[in-house]
Amino acid sequence: MDFGAVLFLLLVACISYMIVMYGKMLQKRGQLPPGPMPLPIIGNLLQVNTDNTAKSLIAISKKYGPVFTIHLGSKPNLVLCGYETMREALIDQAEKFGGRGRFPAADNFTKGNDMAFSNGEKWKELHRFVLQTMRNFGVGKRSIEERIQEEAQFLIKELRKTSQLPFEPTLIFGRSIANVMCSIVFGTRFEYEDKTFQTIVRVISENFHIMSSFWGMMYNIYPEIMDYLPGPHKKIFKNHEVQAAILQDAVKAHQETLDPDSPRDFIDVFLIKMQKEKSNPRTHFFTESLIMTAHNLLNGGIDTVTTVLRYGVLILMKFPEVEEKIHEEINQVIGQDRPPAMEDRKKMPYTDAVIQEIQRFASIVPLALPHLVMQDTQLKGYKIPKDITVIPVLASVHHDPAHYEKPEVFNPANFLDKNGCIKKNDALMIFSAGRRICPGENLARMETFLFFTTLLQNFTFQPFGSREDIKLTPSGTSLGNLPQSYQCCAIPR
Ligand code: HEM
Repeated sequence: MDFGAVLFLLLVACISYMIVMYGKMLQKRGQLPPGPMPLPIIGNLLQVNTDNTAKSLIAISKKYGPVFTIHLGSKPNLVLCGYETMREALIDQAEKFGGRGRFPAADNFTKGNDMAFSNGEKWKELHRFVLQTMRNFGVGKRSIEERIQEEAQFLIKELRKTSQLPFEPTLIFGRSIANVMCSIVFGTRFEYEDKTFQTIVRVISENFHIMSSFWGMMYNIYPEIMDYLPGPHKKIFKNHEVQAAILQDAVKAHQETLDPDSPRDFIDVFLIKMQKEKSNPRTHFFTESLIMTAHNLLNGGIDTVTTVLRYGVLILMKFPEVEEKIHEEINQVIGQDRPPAMEDRKKMPYTDAVIQEIQRFASIVPLALPHLVMQDTQLKGYKIPKDITVIPVLASVHHDPAHYEKPEVFNPANFLDKNGCIKKNDALMIFSAGRRICPGENLARMETFLFFTTLLQNFTFQPFGSREDIKLTPSGTSLGNLPQSYQCCAIPR
């Protein structure tokens, strides 16, 4: 057979395969909630603006309702929009909607040996262990509060060194936030000049940026193809490896100095648990799961909080009148002679409301992480099959017109009553909801309040350039809603 004939037959085989697969896709689609018509191979990618995925999904929900199906590539995903739907799925049916869906940019590395990207018994055990260990190391208590206060003072010192000159805040903020997480995982804070520490902060920040970009999204949709293509996504796995090597060294050093009666940090407690479970053939506690779960904590706990701070400062530079009112509240409640403490929050409703509004407005993890339906179920009258991936559009809760009068506008009054007291709004789910709710929620709340108020106790932030040019729309929204890159000046008060 000549080459042309072989090529022709190959082409026919490919086209036939695509037609059969497309037929199957459409057949399956008929059993799912409605959604836009997918194309072969790309599914509904033409309808999704990869620069603002959450916004596109919210727009599609206007036509198809709060529960709809979208094909990313050839894979169907169930999209959830709005507060009511999120509550009915993630909270009222927490078990059924509480699985973790595929997220290849992370799970192709952790390979199910971690907490964040596992399911079933393994997730349950590691999750319980993580929550308990964080509590024992003082999360939600005074001891971690003191650690955060101390780190916030180191940050202030760094900012004073900028001498009012413009700087880009990602790494400066990131190092302080990273040190809080490192204290829990490694038992120690690092000097900001420490090379290993700088590497940890850099690779985690790089990965958060790449995973929040078009490349991260494409990797999660087409991992088998993207593995063979060049592009920034290649760096994700190199960066994962760098972190794993650092964690491996730390685990080794901990093993050599471990005192089972006096655990110093997360790694020690995990090693002690491994020892206890040595004779259990079904244990989920082994070196690999220690490294991967510590990797979850570092990756989940650094750039999220850093991004809230970065977005917060950008928003305050845009609205100096809001910053001024926070300064006044700080003057009244805290003054200049002592660091802010968690106790102060109840007496600072305006600052508290601004922080909540920053979190709502920025929606920094707009699509949560993918969930997985664990059992056949029903939602809003639709049959939902087991094993379908779920995209909870958390940003849609924060833009739900039933809960926010003008969701597109930054307005701290969303969280204040007419007397200026804090007003609870259930439609704030930045940590998601239900079984998979972020285990770092309490820590993140403390960090956000303490870092934010310490920054504003000491500085006024001014833009490098004109206020009018500040754009609050995010740059790239897949994993994270990142603020546009900016420079600012920290002017001592
Ligand atoms: C402002 C800061 C933070 C935000 C906005 C945030 C948000 C989220 C969101 C939306 C999820 C996905 C939940 C879901 O799948 O439904 C998540 C999961 C997770 N977060 Fe956070 N997070 C923050 C801080 C932290 C911190 C400080 C830690 C570290 C202790 C952390 C560790 C994790 C882990 C390990 C998971 C996976 C949980 C699981 O699969 O069960 N996060 N976070």
